[in-house]
Amino acid sequence: MAILKIARIGHPVLRQKSAPVDNPTSPYIKQLIEDMIDTMYDAGGTGLAAPQVHVSKRIVVFTVYPERAQSEGDGEQAGVPLTVLINPEITPLSDETEQGWEGCLSIPGMMGQVPRFTHIRYSAYDLDGNRFEREARGFHARVVQHECDHLDGILYPFRIEDMSKFGFTEELTRQGPPKSE
Ligand code: NI
Repeated sequence: MAILKIARIGHPVLRQKSAPVDNPTSPYIKQLIEDMIDTMYDAGGTGLAAPQVHVSKRIVVFTVYPERAQSEGDGEQAGVPLTVLINPEITPLSDETEQGWEGCLSIPGMMGQVPRFTHIRYSAYDLDGNRFEREARGFHARVVQHECDHLDGILYPFRIEDMSKFGFTEELTRQGPPKSE
């Protein structure tokens, strides 16, 4: 088990377009992903992308806890188990977007309201080198879009449309959890 150092906004590795993984089943990739999972849990994150641990490769790990899926009213009340995405691709299944609050382990202590597609399909290789596909809505879809953005050097503040909806979590939640508009 290894906890990796997380890059913070401003570090150039977060702005790079990451390279595809040539061999999803290589021992190096397996080890990297194990360390990413340890790092994500240690930091209390919902997801983590490889560039956030200074590795410019197209790998994402994430999980959606049932409590979070319920509070977002997704109808995906079981949440999403720990998932590894290698070389992921996203296809929006509708033009509809919604605003929602996001945070990022690379931007500690802050949050912002970001528009995301509400309904997507995504595909990726798993650790066994098999391509799989899923549909996602709501918060699940949001997490996948946020993490995959990291692979293209995009951080959530770049997508915020109303900068008054960006700030320190401590300040924005003084009157309770902020509402999405
Ligand atoms: Ni992030």
